[in-house]
Amino acid sequence: MAEEVQGQTAEESDSSESSEATIAVHWREEGYYQPPPKFIGQANASDPAILGRFAEENFPECFKEYGDLLSWDHYWHTTLDTSEAPFWKWFVGGKLNASYNCVDRHLEKHKNKAALIWVPEPEDVPHVVITYQELYRRVNEFAAVLQAAGVKAGDRITLHMPMVPELPVTMLACARLGAIHSQVFGGFSGAACGHRIADSTSKILITMDSYYRSGVVQDHKVKADEAVEAARKEGTEVEKVLVWRRFPGQYSSETPMVEGRDFFVDELLADHLGAVVAPVSMPAEAPLFLMYTSGTTGRPKGCQHSTGGYLSYVAGTSKYYQDIHPDDTYWCMADIGWITGHSYIVYGPLALGTTSVIYEGTPNYPDAGRPWRIAERLGVNIFHTSPTAIRMLRKVGPDEPAKYDYHFKHMTTVGEPIEPEVWRWYYESVGKGEAVIVDTWWQTETGGFLGTGLPALDAMKPSSCGPMALGIYAEILDEDGQPLPKGSGKAGNICIRNPWPGVFETIWGQPDRFVSTYFAKYNQDPDSKDWHDWPYFAGDGAVQAADGYYRILGRVDDVINVAGHRLGTKELESSALGVPEVAEAAAVPVIDDVRGRAVEMYIALKPGYAANATEVEAKVKTAIETDIGKIARPKNIWIVPDMPKTRSGKIMRRVIAATSNFADVGDITTLANPEVVEQIRHQVQNAKHARGEVPRELTEAEEAEIKSFGSES
Ligand code: WTA
Repeated sequence: MAEEVQGQTAEESDSSESSEATIAVHWREEGYYQPPPKFIGQANASDPAILGRFAEENFPECFKEYGDLLSWDHYWHTTLDTSEAPFWKWFVGGKLNASYNCVDRHLEKHKNKAALIWVPEPEDVPHVVITYQELYRRVNEFAAVLQAAGVKAGDRITLHMPMVPELPVTMLACARLGAIHSQVFGGFSGAACGHRIADSTSKILITMDSYYRSGVVQDHKVKADEAVEAARKEGTEVEKVLVWRRFPGQYSSETPMVEGRDFFVDELLADHLGAVVAPVSMPAEAPLFLMYTSGTTGRPKGCQHSTGGYLSYVAGTSKYYQDIHPDDTYWCMADIGWITGHSYIVYGPLALGTTSVIYEGTPNYPDAGRPWRIAERLGVNIFHTSPTAIRMLRKVGPDEPAKYDYHFKHMTTVGEPIEPEVWRWYYESVGKGEAVIVDTWWQTETGGFLGTGLPALDAMKPSSCGPMALGIYAEILDEDGQPLPKGSGKAGNICIRNPWPGVFETIWGQPDRFVSTYFAKYNQDPDSKDWHDWPYFAGDGAVQAADGYYRILGRVDDVINVAGHRLGTKELESSALGVPEVAEAAAVPVIDDVRGRAVEMYIALKPGYAANATEVEAKVKTAIETDIGKIARPKNIWIVPDMPKTRSGKIMRRVIAATSNFADVGDITTLANPEVVEQIRHQVQNAKHARGEVPRELTEAEEAEIKSFGSES
């Protein structure tokens, strides 16, 4: 078992100096855990010389090491082109195909090796093994279907698929043709999918009729009809809907197929059995996919990822940080509908030729032992999940892991800050004290890991993502752009000073927003072609301890991170505002012991509407489920007499957030209506007492987050 070394003394700081972005944080420093010698002995990165290779003086050429993990049709001539800063171009002059790199090139040595192992949710059906040879066959045949449907390089194709092997097959078939896939998380509503279809002007939607979730067959095709309708309202006409069937030959949706528009994929495939489609050689900077994420405004951002830079970065980070070797059985229990699944279920592991496990259902179906039974049965030795899943499995089945005979060498946590006691359960119980843990901090925009230790070289420290990844040079800046040095105990905005191959290329159709959201804040010279002038503003608060390790505190924009999923307050609020009775809406985060954060919605009704609370609540709930999806459903909806507002009429979200979390509301004397704060507090906190929803005492970091939440608008 790894040895726990007692950590440093608590960091002291002076809260009187804190400004809005520079929040003073003090907490107990956690002790270190050392990686086990057995892990170090086999690790891909066990020689500290690697740190020197990626030192700043070797930038950007250091990333040749990542680029060289791929097979190129033409080698690149320029590693990093900054001529259109901050629209960085990596490996310019290079040409390659992502599908070739993830499939074809492994055939020579590994064609009979499992590429994917799919575990359906019902436990009484066997898992499905798809070898590289079989994956090759399926990707080619489906690429032939797409080609026959007129798909060509550069077309956008929207996917709205569950966790089935047909999803990576579809992604890789698009990539084979150079078409840009845009997978929308299957749990999102039809309307949310429709907005993303319209934003990317996709003419083809690929979906599945149904899938299993918590023991129930969900009708998914119904969402395709809603999506097509929503896209039409925004001026995009979907020409074809390709419907995979969960059980080929048997339609398991109540929703009728639309003649001439909807096609069953298994029927189309019948005409292309054995087809071989040559992979289209794409420029390194050609877009591989779009992945939508939420931001400060209501319009989601289609993050555009490149072929060469992205694939190199996920291959390199999978090798060194996931420590993937060809013989490992790797399971990332994320959804491919999020960036984690794209990078670390599909593209990274397959580029390295390993075996990647895909699980269809919920982790605790039919009980909290399921993940450990899967691990035991398949011999999984690398496991990857989120703090929300860990919290949930710990809550419902703390003793389950010990009942199963599996052994992880490596585990990942991703997507949210993890509390030290949750980290320790992951380490002791899930990892049985044998596995290293990497806490990986990154974002949809960044393609791959930004902050994480090298598992064999860096000691672990609970709740801290560790140092930055190879070739990533970070700094924490205050509002004025002054660096906050390590050990200062002050939190500020974490920025990455340099470009890296995995960074997104732009926001689809919104290049100005790309610059203004991520680069404008600390850029002094908009005409500069020098990367040093363009720090990447990640939108997260962070603090750097004296040992150089970073601790990520959470979003500094109007985004609520629910179970590791980013929900924009504006999207939530505009959905609520669609309900006729609603005059004003404000969404705020509440600390939740399983999901990290949950959403609470405050509603003020239009004058003249009687406050039939239950009815309005139900309407708001339905509106959010319809517009966004069930994951965004608020934990509570409070119908209040008025919103706390500034004298210029802006809603003070931080006051509302403090109320929901039983935190101090701070100075409210400057409000236009300070009396309403007490009224709301009384109403909300009494109701919470009655429901047994009083939260535990907040940590200082949580309190700081809540008190600085949200813009005023
Ligand atoms: C948060 C998920 C703390 C952060 C890969 C970031 C984290 C947002 C961590 C991105 C972590 C992600 N520790 N916070 N290890 N990883 N976050 O785009 O606020 O879904 O900005 O990408 O999640 O979420 P996204």
